Amino acid sequence: MKRRVTSLLIALIVILSSVSTATFAYAYGVNTTANQKSIKGSKSIEQKSVCLTVGSDENSRNITWYAKTMMPGTVQYAPKSTMVGNAFPAKYREAKAISRLSNDTGFYTNQATMDELKANTEYVYRFVNGEQISKTYTFKTGDVSKGIRFAVVGDPQIGSGDLEAGIAGWEVALNAIQTKLNVDFLISAGDQVNTSSSEIEYAGFLNERLASLALAPTIGNHDNSSTAYGQHFNIPNESAIYGRTLAGANYWYVYGNTLFMHINSNSMSTIGHEAFLKNAIEKNPDAKWKIVVFHHSIYSTAGHWDDPDIISRRNSLPPILNKLGIDVVFMGHDHIYTRSYMMNGTTPDSVKGPQSEVVAPTGVLYITGNSGSGSKYYGVAENFDADYAAKIDQSKRPTAIEVSITDTEYTMTTYFTDDMSVLDKFTIRKTANINDPVVDNPNTDEETTGNNGSTNNTNGNSNGNTSTNNNADTGVTVNDKTPQSGQSVADKTLQSGSTVKDKIANTGDVSEVIVISVFAMASIVTAVAAFNRKKILSSEEN
Ligand SMILES: [Fe+2]
Repeated sequence: MKRRVTSLLIALIVILSSVSTATFAYAYGVNTTANQKSIKGSKSIEQKSVCLTVGSDENSRNITWYAKTMMPGTVQYAPKSTMVGNAFPAKYREAKAISRLSNDTGFYTNQATMDELKANTEYVYRFVNGEQISKTYTFKTGDVSKGIRFAVVGDPQIGSGDLEAGIAGWEVALNAIQTKLNVDFLISAGDQVNTSSSEIEYAGFLNERLASLALAPTIGNHDNSSTAYGQHFNIPNESAIYGRTLAGANYWYVYGNTLFMHINSNSMSTIGHEAFLKNAIEKNPDAKWKIVVFHHSIYSTAGHWDDPDIISRRNSLPPILNKLGIDVVFMGHDHIYTRSYMMNGTTPDSVKGPQSEVVAPTGVLYITGNSGSGSKYYGVAENFDADYAAKIDQSKRPTAIEVSITDTEYTMTTYFTDDMSVLDKFTIRKTANINDPVVDNPNTDEETTGNNGSTNNTNGNSNGNTSTNNNADTGVTVNDKTPQSGQSVADKTLQSGSTVKDKIANTGDVSEVIVISVFAMASIVTAVAAFNRKKILSSEEN
């Protein structure tokens, strides 16, 4: 056994060291005249596709950029207040990127984490690849001491209609969100692009505003059949197995008082999703609010509302979300605006009719985003016949939701981004009086699941999209380690189009068992992803 373990570890080390990866490493740099200039007497290196994403908490931001070199680059960052004139700050922090071959011919994706950020501070940052230095970008951190603010959009799906019109609509939406809403980051509920491997559509989606407004993306059915998604978005705390498909997997982050958990609903493994949610919640017991995001809306009102796969998710997910004390769920897929009643499992709390405010509710609120870019809308389904919808709108105008959350209050306002008029407002108060004690997770069922995280649901696995999640049944320990400063993260391969994107925390406290498990699972994931690729491709037709 010992010999086998040693062999596996050696194999793992060889594989990981043979690819063009770099550990996250942080250092303080000094700005010199030499490194302020890009390329003098040397060939320039093209850099593009910048996307700022959320970090594992409010004190970090992840970043992705593409460069036409296989050598990993670095990102340098510092408070903007330390700039003298237009010169990049003399002192800055530097994070080394992980580099791997991208879906975009000739380009390598560079992904790094900017951490130890101060609250309520504007930062400048830039990329360095060899002697090539990018322009300077900015972003701002929020002050989470009194609450948090973020925005949500559904299905930008660039390329689903007229490409240029979609890109233009996305610019209008991002401009409105960035300049008229007071938010720290933007959640997209999936379908960022229409064709998962289209770099033309990704170029349209990656508006330069996303270099400053941190994105929290979600894997939609249109994002799912290519590794391009994971190459463009550097997400925190990505699960090694739960919700894993070719594009990526489930992930979570904490921002101030709220735990956010993004599920890859292309995976139909309810058991896997439940295990993931439980893990994330157990790791973050102090979160005042719990928000889940996934793409395939289970409480929408357009044509997808009665799709068999949607009905399956509608039967299986709500009891779990209720039991785990989830407060709000954001979804997409159906390109129509729908706000549910507070849902007790699958039962709407509609006795009082539609309300603009609820106090100490015992259920979960579900929001279906409309189109964030205006690229495609669906009308209310002619055969729609369900009692869960409290607010429906299809004005064929792009919308964005602004959310603010204090320890006791969730407030959302939905705007039409073409003129910022208000479509919808809704508030959840944890207590009737601000001085009343807050009872955490009022809808949490004390009857938690068994040790193996299993529930009574078996519907999900029938689809077969991602069988790796079945490992949750066996009680396999999941290594969900977060890359942190000073830790090394091994991930990636240079084999074009066949990236195994399992993040393995290469730290001293990772047990051999976990390493072997992840190693084995990576192989299974690759095999299963290839096997199921045909099925997943068909889902892009919707
Ligand atoms: Fe969509």
